[in-house]
Amino acid sequence: MFVVLLGAPGSGKGTQAKIVSAELGLLHLSTGDLFRAAVRERTPLGMLVQDYLDRGELVPDSVTVAMVREALSRQGLMRGVILDGFPRTLAQAQALDAALEETGKRIDLAIYLDVKDSVLIARLDSRWHCPNCNAVYGAGENAPLKRGTCDRCGGQLTQRSDDRPDVVRARLDEYFRKTVPVIEYYRQRGVLREVNGDQSVKDVASEIVAAVEETLAQAHR
Ligand code: AP5
Repeated sequence: MFVVLLGAPGSGKGTQAKIVSAELGLLHLSTGDLFRAAVRERTPLGMLVQDYLDRGELVPDSVTVAMVREALSRQGLMRGVILDGFPRTLAQAQALDAALEETGKRIDLAIYLDVKDSVLIARLDSRWHCPNCNAVYGAGENAPLKRGTCDRCGGQLTQRSDDRPDVVRARLDEYFRKTVPVIEYYRQRGVLREVNGDQSVKDVASEIVAAVEETLAQAHR
């Protein structure tokens, strides 16, 4: 089972991928988390991609595709994979199809989390992140129990440097120019499901789980 989570920055891809992968026993693969870990650990990949992340630009396709291929080959695939933040360009989507085809697999489901721009911007402005365990917090019901402290591991919460308003604008521009065509790509393949991402985290997760289970059931008919 290969599931792609698509959506603008702040649409809830990471939040949902964590919940749904845990509930369904799928591997969660986030290209943003992999890049941030590489930057934190100052690996050669981290040095190469840091400027792109700081500017809110997409990392070149060749670098991103090579990293995902490597991550997929390294990880046990469990029941399947949820790809969070990949593919983000048509070239990445085509490279992913080609890589899966080599092993007789394909993308089974692409979920597009639809959230309006004003909500995205407000969410990114109030997002807090735990650099220790990657937990993500927001406002209201998504806030940590104790301000500034991770509920899960007690780590100190920080704000992502690319959540500054000028970088958020650049990330949204990249999204509209390069990632929106990927939504159409999956729609034409008949695997796209649109989910209203502007509901409670729990309700969005229920819709995604139902869509994955429905797709699994269809595959077994
Ligand atoms: P990445 O980390 O993937 O960033 P992004 O796509 O911009 O997405 P975000 O992580 O900002 O948002 P999200 O949709 O995961 O939302 P979240 O769940 O956190 O990529 C970062 C950078 O890496 C890119 O800019 C690029 O440079 C590079 N990169 C990554 N992938 C790449 C690729 N494939 N190709 C090239 N470059 C790549 O939620 C946001 C906030 O909203 C949180 O505070 C959360 O608590 C809150 N929230 C979530 N859901 C809800 C809800 N239902 N109701 C209320 N609040 C909610």
